[in-house]
Amino acid sequence: METFLGYDDVIKKFFSSGEGHLFEHWNELSATERKEFIEELSHIDFRLVTELKSLIKRESHVEMQFEPAPYISLNPLSDEYARAKEVGESHLRNGKVAAFVVAGGQGSRLGYEGPKGCYPLGEISGKSLFQIHAEKILKYSQKYGVRIPWLIMTSQSNHHQTVEFLRSHNNFGIEPSDLFIFSQAMVPSLDLDGKLVLESPTRLFKNPDGHGGSLTALASSGVLDALIGRGIETISYFQVDNPLVKIIDPVFIGVHLLQNAEVSSKGLPKIGPEEKIGVFVNFPNGRLGVIEYSDLPEERAKERDADGKLKFLMGSPAIHLFQCEFIRKITSEGQVRLPFHIAKKKLKVWKQGTVVEIDGLKFEKFVFDAIPLAERSIVFEMRREEEFAPVKNLTGVDSVESARALMNNLFKEWLTKKGIEIPPKVRIVEISPLLAVEAEDLPQIAIPNKEMVYLE
Ligand code: UTP
Repeated sequence: METFLGYDDVIKKFFSSGEGHLFEHWNELSATERKEFIEELSHIDFRLVTELKSLIKRESHVEMQFEPAPYISLNPLSDEYARAKEVGESHLRNGKVAAFVVAGGQGSRLGYEGPKGCYPLGEISGKSLFQIHAEKILKYSQKYGVRIPWLIMTSQSNHHQTVEFLRSHNNFGIEPSDLFIFSQAMVPSLDLDGKLVLESPTRLFKNPDGHGGSLTALASSGVLDALIGRGIETISYFQVDNPLVKIIDPVFIGVHLLQNAEVSSKGLPKIGPEEKIGVFVNFPNGRLGVIEYSDLPEERAKERDADGKLKFLMGSPAIHLFQCEFIRKITSEGQVRLPFHIAKKKLKVWKQGTVVEIDGLKFEKFVFDAIPLAERSIVFEMRREEEFAPVKNLTGVDSVESARALMNNLFKEWLTKKGIEIPPKVRIVEISPLLAVEAEDLPQIAIPNKEMVYLE
C-alpha cells in the first residue's frame, strides 16, 4: 500500500484494531482525498469505538428494579396551582428562563427533505415548526416583558440548512443576540459484525449522538456559560416535532422551583398499557427515571391499582426543566456519561465503489437518562390534548395529519373557553402564536362563517 509521510500511524492504528477493511479503496483515492480521509480518521476516538463494540455483546444495561414514579397533579382551581403560577411568572419576569429545542434528529420516518423544523406544519398558514416555536417564544417574551433566549441544537447533518433557513427568514423575529444554535456530537455507526463503515470514500458513517447529547453539547459549546452569565437559571427543554408544546409554562416552572427540583418532567397519563411511550419510574435508590416502553415487561405495563388505574401511568412526552447548575454539575468533566442505546437500522454505506444498504447499528444517548442523576426531581401531570402532538410520520399515528387535527381541536377549545362562537361552516381553525399561546390571550372576536379560519 502506498502511503504518505505522517499517514502511517493512523493507518497502522486502524489495521491493528481490525478496521483494515476501511482502506480497501485506498489505491483509487486521489492525493487530496487521501488527505481528507486520513484527517477524518485521525479524529476517531478509539476508546469510544471500543466502548460501542463492547455494548453489542452485552445484555441490556437497563436497571430492571423499579416501581412507578410518584407524580404531582394540580387542580387549576386550587391555591397550590395559583401559588405555582405566581412563582413561575415571577421567575420568567426576572429573565431566568431559556427555551431549548432539540432539533438534531434525522427525521427519517417523516421522509422530508431537510431539517424537520422546516416542515410546513401550519394547516392554513403553512408555518414551519421552527416558525411556530419562534412565534411562541416571542409571545411569551411579550407576555412576561423579557427577551427569552432560544437555544437550538442541530447536528452535523442539518446544521447548515437550519442556520440558513432561520437566516433567510430573519430568525422569525428573534433577535440574533437571543438565538443560540449549536451542534451535538456524532458517533460512529457499526455494521452487525461491529465494524466501522463508510458513508463516502473519505468519510466514516456516523449518526448524531441522540437527544441525550444535548446536555454535553450545551456545556461544550459554551452556551451554558453564556446563559449563566446572562442570569438564566432554568432551561425549558422540548422537541422540535411537538407543535403543541407549552414552551414556557409558568405553573410547571413554579412547581419545579417550589419543589426545589434539579430536573422536572411533564408526564401524561398513558392511553393504555400498550401505548409506545417511555414511562416514569422510581428506582430503588429513590431516584426517578424513565424506562423505554420496550423495556417495560408486558405484565408490569398491565398492572393496575385498587382503583383500576394503570400503576405505570405516567408516560414521558419529553418535556423537561433543567436547572443550569445541575447541567454544570453533571458536565463538570467535559461530558455527561449517559449510557448508549443501540438501534438496529438500515444504513446506506459506501462499499466497494458504490452505495449499498446494509443492516447496521446506531448508538444514541437519551436525555431522560440524566433524570436519575438529579438529587431532586419531580413529574408533573399535564393534559395531553393541550400540549402533545408529536410529528413522526406523514400520516397515521403521531403524524402531520394527527398533529394538525390536535391543533385544530385545541384552537377550537380555546375559542369555546373564551365564549367565542364558532359558526357552522368552520371546519379548520388555526391561531397564530403571535395572537395567542393560550385561551386567555384571545381577544373577543367574531369568527367568519367559512371553512378555514386563520386568526392572527
Ligand atoms: P426522534 O427520536 O423522534 O428522532 O427525536 P427523529 O430523528 O426526529 O426522527 P426519526 O426517528 O429519524 O424518524 C425526538 C427529538 O429529539 C431530537 C429530534 O430532532 C426530535 O426533536 N433529536 C433526536 C436530536 O436532537 N438529536 C438526536 O440525535 C436525535
